[in-house]
Amino acid sequence: MENDILTMENETPSFVSPPKKEFCIGYPTNLALDNTFLIEHLQTHSLLNNLGDPQQGIFYAMNAQTEELAVLAYFAELYKLDKYWGYVTHGGTEGNLSALYLGRKHLGAPVLYCSDQSHYSVFKSADLLGIPIQVVASNSNGEMDYVVLEKLLKSEKKPVLFCASIGTTMKGATDNIDIILLLLKNYNIKYYLHLDAALSGMMIPFLDADYLDFSTKNIASISVSGHKFIGTHFPCGVVLAREQYVSNMSDIAYIQSKDTTVTGSRNGWAAAELNHAIQKRKTQFRGEVGNCVAQAQRLKKSLDRIGCPAHLNDWSNTVYFKKPSVEFCNKWNLASDKTIAHVITMQHVTREVVNKFIDDMTKELRSAAPSKPKKR
Ligand SMILES: Cc1ncc(COP(=O)(O)O)c(C=O)c1O
Repeated sequence: MENDILTMENETPSFVSPPKKEFCIGYPTNLALDNTFLIEHLQTHSLLNNLGDPQQGIFYAMNAQTEELAVLAYFAELYKLDKYWGYVTHGGTEGNLSALYLGRKHLGAPVLYCSDQSHYSVFKSADLLGIPIQVVASNSNGEMDYVVLEKLLKSEKKPVLFCASIGTTMKGATDNIDIILLLLKNYNIKYYLHLDAALSGMMIPFLDADYLDFSTKNIASISVSGHKFIGTHFPCGVVLAREQYVSNMSDIAYIQSKDTTVTGSRNGWAAAELNHAIQKRKTQFRGEVGNCVAQAQRLKKSLDRIGCPAHLNDWSNTVYFKKPSVEFCNKWNLASDKTIAHVITMQHVTREVVNKFIDDMTKELRSAAPSKPKKR
């Protein structure tokens, strides 16, 4: 069968060349990547497979366990989490699944509370784990509605596995974990609080050092994507939980480790690159967060000015607005739902890219405007 991607015998198979990254501005992925680490090390290393639990020692020899442990230590310090357990996942989705699994094991037969703005991985995880869901309505900026939440918690009889969104996918809104914790305490509910912090988990600590503080708040776990704010060539993420929640996992002789990770084989290259990026840029992260938020504020103002009212939540770089034409969304790779689309000003979305986008949006608005009836 003919296939454009496969080439004739003896020819080197080619890669489909991806579109230019400056037109990929609708998803929370940092595309301003440093290629040198992989170029240098791929030449001398083979498979890197972090099979098993990094805390217990990875028995399979070709691993990047040291790097993985360094990544976990960095995140634990960022969230002031003292006794922790965690691993480098394949992304935010696996982190959510892994943490909600821990929560379900801890609580027995809980009900999962999350907002209607939660990422689809939260609903999928509940389905996979067989946990009933209580969806809480959100307000217009995408944050959970706490009045609705309180009404629901008042009559809740089951333990609550709570998944708060720290930066929702479409609107970049952050659920207020202080209010959530207060309500859970006031109604005397047994709970496990997980934070889905795929993008904002790497931004908020640099905007408010106390918000994601495990040392003062009873947060059980957090999941963050590695390829989003930090940026890597392979999708990856980090899940961290308080150590106490993994004690009841079974031992597996084959890997000489406890069966704590969702998948068996795991991408050691992702752990190695993530660690390299952290060690190289950790003093720059605060500045990068500031730039991303500043570009988002510029973009919002410019969109408002050209007649495309835009919205931007606090601590966010997700600028959302009325969904433009399908052609326009495709050109800029804008993520959208039925009514809104967004741009996420990651590190590669520079001032120049924002300016180019605004010029194009100006044309888009003109072409979409109903033409004035001609004077007779
Ligand atoms: C809030 C939120 N949670 C989870 C995820 C899933 O992350 P990943 O794509 O790394 O699996 C995303 C992805 O955009 C997200 O926005």
